Amino acid sequence: MTVGADIPRVDGVDKLRGVTRYVDDLTLEGMWHGATIRSPRARGRITNIHFDPAVAWDEFVIVDHRDIPGPNEVAFIENDQPALAAREVRFRHEPVLLIAHRSPAALRRARRAIRIDVEPLPAVLSPHQPVTPELLQYCDDNVFKRIDISKGDVAAVFAAAPHVIEGTYETGAQEHVYLEPQGMLAYHEDGRLVARGSLQCPYYVLNALTHLFARPPEAFRVIQTPTGGAFGGKEDFPSILAIHAALLAERAGAPVKMIYDRQEDMAATTKRHPSRVRHRTAVDDDGRLLAMEIEVVLDAGAYVSLSPVVLSRGCLHATGPYYCENVRVHGEARLTNTPPNGAFRGFGAPQTLFAVERHMNVIAEHLGLDPAELRRRNLLRDGQTMATGQVFRDGTDLVGLFERTLELSSYRQRRKQHAAFNAKHPYLRRGVGFASFFHGAGFTGAGEKHLASEASVAGLPDGTVEVLTAQTEMGQGALTVLSQIVADRLGIPLALVRVATPDTSRVPNSGPTVASRTVMIVGRLLERACDDLVARLPSGTDEGCAALSDAIRAWHAANHGQALRGHARYSQPASIAWDEEHYRGDAYACYAWATHAAEVEVDLRTFIARVTDYVAVQEVGKVVNPTLARGQIQGGVAQAIGWALTEDVVLEDGAMANNQMTNYIIPASGDLPPIRVYFEQQPTPYGPQGAKGLGELPMDGGAPAVINAVCQALGTSISQIPLTPERLLEHLEGTAGG
Ligand code: MOS
Repeated sequence: MTVGADIPRVDGVDKLRGVTRYVDDLTLEGMWHGATIRSPRARGRITNIHFDPAVAWDEFVIVDHRDIPGPNEVAFIENDQPALAAREVRFRHEPVLLIAHRSPAALRRARRAIRIDVEPLPAVLSPHQPVTPELLQYCDDNVFKRIDISKGDVAAVFAAAPHVIEGTYETGAQEHVYLEPQGMLAYHEDGRLVARGSLQCPYYVLNALTHLFARPPEAFRVIQTPTGGAFGGKEDFPSILAIHAALLAERAGAPVKMIYDRQEDMAATTKRHPSRVRHRTAVDDDGRLLAMEIEVVLDAGAYVSLSPVVLSRGCLHATGPYYCENVRVHGEARLTNTPPNGAFRGFGAPQTLFAVERHMNVIAEHLGLDPAELRRRNLLRDGQTMATGQVFRDGTDLVGLFERTLELSSYRQRRKQHAAFNAKHPYLRRGVGFASFFHGAGFTGAGEKHLASEASVAGLPDGTVEVLTAQTEMGQGALTVLSQIVADRLGIPLALVRVATPDTSRVPNSGPTVASRTVMIVGRLLERACDDLVARLPSGTDEGCAALSDAIRAWHAANHGQALRGHARYSQPASIAWDEEHYRGDAYACYAWATHAAEVEVDLRTFIARVTDYVAVQEVGKVVNPTLARGQIQGGVAQAIGWALTEDVVLEDGAMANNQMTNYIIPASGDLPPIRVYFEQQPTPYGPQGAKGLGELPMDGGAPAVINAVCQALGTSISQIPLTPERLLEHLEGTAGG
């Protein structure tokens, strides 16, 4: 068995040796280079486009909205976003023109020789700004999506509750900072328009091309190049870049490559949705949650993009992993004139979990209870219902998991030690904080049913097996773990398994590589595809590797020139029921659960908070590859720490002003504590060998754990992140002055 073993990542050596070819490493005969000319303003009417006559424009290919063959719409949830702005712009850096040239240097000079004049219109720069008529840009209220979840009778409980505790919590935007910026190469080959680049979801890109060019899917081919990180940032955006590169390639009649540099990437592409979450909670004298009223507002940016589903996941995780009989969640995703916010690891859940996990500490404080005890009393127990009425019954002992985290982080001893330390030290303050949280695996509600994903395994004439899915490797280890799952199911060594490059002309649509779904959903599909493959071979050949490999070879000898494929298509287990209209039922087939604990040290001279120790305990079902899983957890925690403390997206006129890595500060290895990772492994019936999704989970709990620790260290209550030193200084001075 390879599942559960530390198999070295199959793409590791080539990456280490520098052999892997990323999109910017590719050069095609006669290739041009493309660039985007963007709106200089947050909102307005395009009045003139000025081309400096000193440039030899006839050497360039120039494309605008009039060159779009079909509808000028990027196909996402709603097709409201144009691929190239026509008369109006809705965000600064919105694409208006595309230009291409053979020489990258000439292209760079030409970019500066085009001026787009925009007559400004009033812009929405905050989702909390009152919507006056001149600001209206979407329906009659600029609200892209509303979600309501309701259980029990909240109003009646509040009226009679012994304690009602309120709080408002805010989180900032976050930039993905994938190592490899966005990049795409488009060219014609064999009568098809090919888009090849750094991306998560080849079939999303295919769909976008099909829609915009108004041609059938067979007219296109989308191929993933090795992808240097994505984190959700390459879920939606590559559709736009592929459209742009394809438009230029079509006009140039030559291959066109578009690569963003870091500044353009940070300024113009999606971010995590900033959020404001209000809590109003009724509790009894023992701290039992009687009613929770939660209002979630997400800043969606200028177009709908993926905001409705980000809001959905945010609302579905808003109560935290707690039992409460009376719940009302209301969520809104609102328009602002900033670049559209999009998918980012966690997809709305980190925002609402930050709020509820901070709020739990606020409640504990109010009642004079230890925050650990408050959680212990309210964590979901087997058979209790979640906000949508979904019954929690997956066998996980949430209280046990929680206690284990307190144990492993020496929570009680450290609290005592810190109290003694803080009383004596002139300027250092230490604290420990934790967060309990969860993350639903796979698409929400009936999402997986609608996706109807398909996956295949092919037995090749040489006796090896090829895995055919649209699942992309972006650094998370998909190639390795899917190989492990297939090798085990077929009972063959890993060396006989290869994973096909995601290429829409070769692989079935197994859905996007998002939403912590790859291992659980597609891994399970692959198991069924393996069973189908074995069933196509003469019986008695599934008894081990030599036999299976021989049987595949024998099959090909007997069926010359034909393809041997096992295939599977997702069908929703009958036990899962979801009512999309009322937001009731099984929001996710299963959840991963976690409690994380952070220890911090705050320096009152510099107002820098440093995380000094971190314990991450999570229940993720069967762990397919312990080293890769640990890497996922550590990476997610690192991103969460950055989001909590240093990553501050500063907007000017609706666009990122600090779009360089010198002043958008992500944690480097030296800024991070040891991140001690522990797994519990309660198998789920829905995943391969019991494995659940774990990719997003670690992003969800780090920020509240860290901020709870800071609050404990300083004896204060902080409700906004990122908690940069400047913001902490202001907070403490405000407290002192008030
Ligand atoms: Mo993701 S944030 O589900 O790509």
